Amino acid sequence: MPGLRPLGRVWAVTEPTQQPVRAPGVQREVTSFVRRSTRMRPVHLRAWERLRHAYVLEVPQRASSTSIAPGHPLDVVAAFGRTAPLVVEIGPGTGESLVGMAIARPEIDVLAFEVYLPGVARTVNRLHETGVVNVRLLQSDAVDGLRHLLGPGSVEEVWTFFPDPWPKARHHKRRLVDRAFADLVASRLRPGGSWRLATDWWDYAVQMRAVLDAHPDLVNVDAAADGWAERCSDRPLTRFEERGIEAGRTVRDLHYRRR
Ligand SMILES: C[S@@+](CC[C@H](N)C(=O)[O-])C[C@H]1O[C@@H](n2cnc3c(N)ncnc32)[C@H](O)[C@@H]1O
Repeated sequence: MPGLRPLGRVWAVTEPTQQPVRAPGVQREVTSFVRRSTRMRPVHLRAWERLRHAYVLEVPQRASSTSIAPGHPLDVVAAFGRTAPLVVEIGPGTGESLVGMAIARPEIDVLAFEVYLPGVARTVNRLHETGVVNVRLLQSDAVDGLRHLLGPGSVEEVWTFFPDPWPKARHHKRRLVDRAFADLVASRLRPGGSWRLATDWWDYAVQMRAVLDAHPDLVNVDAAADGWAERCSDRPLTRFEERGIEAGRTVRDLHYRRR
């Protein structure tokens, strides 16, 4: 079990770069999330204050609290205290599958980006209760995280399980998995590295297939079959996934490799 030692400074020391300045009236980028309540029950808040320093990394930000400033790459070895294959999870929610998968694979280090503070707090509690030592969290936008914290070819695996479906057509622009995001993920994966995804929204699954099957740097591992992957064997069923199944939706897993 990790001691409750603060993780300390985990970004490499480089010259800070110029912060981007947005001109008045210029629209901010579309993100895959919107601001949600950060209210927590007092018991969770107390645990959060006590435990977060052992698991949650703090990195320089831009204007918003979920942003990450460019020019401060993460010192991954300092963050985990060892060298191990790095897996990135995007949007673990309350950490239900993250914690189970980290326990199942003690040889990997998992860096998880989640913007929803109560979700990060619940994950911290789970990590503490289960004694998991190979996970670090950032309460940050994964797009900024992949772009600014991690170098090209530095990631062994990326997990994107049940990204927000944004079912209304006018919100589809918020869907995380599009060509620009695929470019970013592909650039961070090492050659041969894996990207595993799952969704219970059929039209989002089809969108993922269209974008990722056409990507020049990615190969659909299951192309010889029907292009859909077997359920990732060590991925526990989350409450979110369960609700989708109860609502009559079918879960689709996808698995791609970086060329
Ligand atoms: C639908 S939930 C799924 C949670 C979890 N993966 C599961 O299977 O139960 C999607 C999560 O992604 C998070 N999220 C959305 N966009 C994100 C981003 N750009 N960076 C980090 N987290 C993000 C949301 O806050 C939310 O917790």
